[in-house]
Amino acid sequence: MDNLEVIKLLNLDFKGELEATMLYTYNAFIIDDCEISRLIEGAAADEMRHMWWLADLITKRGGRPSMEHGKIEYMEEDVKEALRVQIQKETEGIRKYEKHVKLIDDEEVVGVLRHIIDEEKRHRKEFKEKLEKLK
Ligand SMILES: [Fe+2]
Ligand SMILES: [Fe+2]
Repeated sequence: MDNLEVIKLLNLDFKGELEATMLYTYNAFIIDDCEISRLIEGAAADEMRHMWWLADLITKRGGRPSMEHGKIEYMEEDVKEALRVQIQKETEGIRKYEKHVKLIDDEEVVGVLRHIIDEEKRHRKEFKEKLEKLK
């Protein structure tokens, strides 16, 4: 896989991180439950850090991070629903990263993506635990 293709995949990942950062930041603003709001705020900061890591990989390879994002569904007033959506987003993200790890044969990129996968798995676990407590 050449650099241009790697940059294209990394920009797809970057888009997912940008969307997660925006959604989680918003959810942290509107959720009243302090403990859950703080957890989501922390995850939002992690997603932004993932943006930095990906942008670093992209620019090092001569690309530019695309700031484009898809439509973000902000209407998650129900905390349980917000957590369910976030768990789903984490699962989708993990699947996408795992696919990219298999496709990309660049050691540095794969190392960073694996590190991100670990953090997304932790997010998913933490959101699941909070959701369980609300049941
Ligand atoms: Fe992330
Ligand atoms: Fe995450």
